[in-house]
Amino acid sequence: MKRWIFIAGTVVAIAGLLCALFMQLGSGFHRDVDYVPTPPEVVDKMLELAQVKKADLVYDLGCGDGRIVVAAAKKFGCRAVGVDVDPMRVKEARALVEKNEVADLVRIEQADIFSVELGDADVVTLYLLPNLNRRLIPQLEKMKPGSRIVSHCWHMPGIKPRTVAKVMTSEPREREIYFWTTPLEAE
Ligand SMILES: C[S@@+](CC[C@H](N)C(=O)[O-])C[C@H]1O[C@@H](n2cnc3c(N)ncnc32)[C@H](O)[C@@H]1O
Repeated sequence: MKRWIFIAGTVVAIAGLLCALFMQLGSGFHRDVDYVPTPPEVVDKMLELAQVKKADLVYDLGCGDGRIVVAAAKKFGCRAVGVDVDPMRVKEARALVEKNEVADLVRIEQADIFSVELGDADVVTLYLLPNLNRRLIPQLEKMKPGSRIVSHCWHMPGIKPRTVAKVMTSEPREREIYFWTTPLEAE
């Protein structure tokens, strides 16, 4: 009897795993990290640390619901591009852009962050994972000298930050923000 329960349990577990795999493949995109939004206080601090100004072009790589690019455009009147691979997030982000009437300044692209050219970006914002930040280094190194990069929570292995700021959120919880400028400096 115990043996049959074990076999049935194993079959159910394998079927679950296969289902999850087919759902991801069937949806036609690969996400490297799940969606977790940045709290508003942290968004504000990221933009402040990056010294965003009207003339800047800001990119959020993995933009989720578009809150960072919308906040940048609303607060500073700058242009911004949000990039996300997940069609649901892209839909939400485009809706947020419309709701906040910043469609003349903000573009939302459905794309993989590793395919984005950053040569025209002045500011890049990130809330990914350390290994993804590291994989982005070749693209970030193509930014103009003096460009700014901020990352909520995660460092960039091998690259020295200029500053690490802390923000207390209403959760209440302290969050870290890493700040770099280009050219990137090895640790
Ligand atoms: C932790 S959320 C951050 C969302 C937003 N930047 C914020 O701070 O509120 C990471 C986002 O990256 C997106 N993502 C994950 N892998 C990606 C990839 N390879 N290319 C584009 N977007 C990706 C996810 O869909 C998710 O929306």
